[in-house]
Amino acid sequence: MTKPRILVTGGAGYIGTHTAVELIGAGFEVVIVDDLSNSDLSAVEGVRKITGSDVPFVEADCNDPVAMDEVFAGHGFSGVIHFAASKAVGESVEEPLKYYANNVGSFVNILESMVRHGVQNMVFSSSATVYGQPDELPATEDTPRKPATSPYGNTKQVCEDILRDSVAAYPGLNGIALRYFNPIGAHPSALIGELPKGIPNNLVPFITQTAAGIRPQLSIYGDDYNTPDGTALRDYIDVVDLAKAHVVALERMTGSGMKSRYEIFNIGTGRPVSVLELVKTFEKVNGVEVPYTISGRRAGDVEAVWADTTLANSQLGWKAQRTLDQTLRSAWDWEKRLRNL
Ligand code: UFG
Repeated sequence: MTKPRILVTGGAGYIGTHTAVELIGAGFEVVIVDDLSNSDLSAVEGVRKITGSDVPFVEADCNDPVAMDEVFAGHGFSGVIHFAASKAVGESVEEPLKYYANNVGSFVNILESMVRHGVQNMVFSSSATVYGQPDELPATEDTPRKPATSPYGNTKQVCEDILRDSVAAYPGLNGIALRYFNPIGAHPSALIGELPKGIPNNLVPFITQTAAGIRPQLSIYGDDYNTPDGTALRDYIDVVDLAKAHVVALERMTGSGMKSRYEIFNIGTGRPVSVLELVKTFEKVNGVEVPYTISGRRAGDVEAVWADTTLANSQLGWKAQRTLDQTLRSAWDWEKRLRNL
């Protein structure tokens, strides 16, 4: 029997590489497309090494219709997982058109290629950012979305709507939007992980670089939130668990499990963790120090957001497995490997 073949756009990136590994482990064939604008070919090599599979890689921009038609032609994809997107909130405020072109334009282009080539199943990388600061916590999939506070956040909302409308209009098309909470950690092999360019925006890469001595100290953005220790609460989801959610989403689509042709799932742990708790846990499980200082709140940050994961648990049969300790160990193992520590 031929294996179902999946196109993974942005497959050289952080979540894309981990998902490619899990897909191959679950019996899918994978083709990776990435323009390497925020990733490195070494990440694809990492996927090949872990899986022992010579995963095909195409360097191309998902916004390029000719290049995408070439990728779709002859591959007979069963589905697409669309990761390719820019993700720096601050940069999106400075360069909104880049974000609308990269994130919205490329998504439309890929969907058009899917329709032209009769490819039916799309899993879209959405984000908990669509909830903003929810009025009630934890956030369920029915929690109303809040107006986006950045062009980046808006692209996630717009792309969800594009997927919903496309599924309604094109009879063969199915869509699942996965709303990721805060992905962290790395593959247990330490062969793939997050590769931020320049100064990391996100908490865990900043912590690992500080522990490695690359950054003098971490700034904790605000300790005056209305939370138990005053620092902000997030739902940190292990990247391997997150990757597995894509596999079950695709299996649901390629099988006959979908309740409706457009579905949305929260992908998180359901457990809120404060910035300070995360730092302290990292220090404890890895036996390293993370010097930090408390600074002012970061513009645009919400106080607290975490997931109600009931729907993913019951409908996808998916649940986060890795503990925060394991995840933070994997993050440090990855940083150590990168820096030869
Ligand atoms: N933080 C610090 N210091 C840092 C970096 C972050 O204190 O140097 C804090 C933030 O203020 C926040 C928490 O750590 O309270 C997590 O921050 P991240 O930047 O790691 O993640 P965010 O929750 O801001 O954003 C992430 C993704 C976005 C996504 C959003 C959805 O980066 O792409 O989750 O909730 F939209």
